[in-house]
Amino acid sequence: MRRIVRSFIMIGCLAVSAPALAADGAKLFAEKCVACHGPKGEGTPTGPAQKGNPFITKGKPADIKKVLMEGRAGVAKKYPDILVGMPDGLVSATEADELVKFLQGEMQK
Ligand code: HEC
Repeated sequence: MRRIVRSFIMIGCLAVSAPALAADGAKLFAEKCVACHGPKGEGTPTGPAQKGNPFITKGKPADIKKVLMEGRAGVAKKYPDILVGMPDGLVSATEADELVKFLQGEMQK
């Protein structure tokens, strides 16, 4: 009996934690990035285009992830015409991995 109760508790925990672990790149982008990078990644006055951007299409996933995790501001900035910087702390490491996959994959179609 005790064993059965324990397995039910375990199954319950798995069911609750699974959706929290699965991060969807497209959804994350819509929630956290479109304000500056545009709904289709086309860019806005406060963020460079993601679609067709060689930093994304030809870049290394690790380099893109670094920008997502650490942001890019001040002297590190690459786009002087855009007055703001890329904020840091927007996403977790897992979310950054999902976003890199989305940016290099689905977004470029
Ligand atoms: C407050 C506006 C803002 C938000 C929100 C924002 N970004 Fe940015 N992002 C920028 C700016 C500005 C830059 C360019 C910084 C510079 O001059 O180098 C940038 C740069 C980038 C770059 C590097 C592009 C390149 O050509 O080097 C990537 C990749 C990126 N952002 C992805 C994202 C993702 C993914 C999100 C959502 C998690 C996000 N950004 C949210 C403003 C923003």
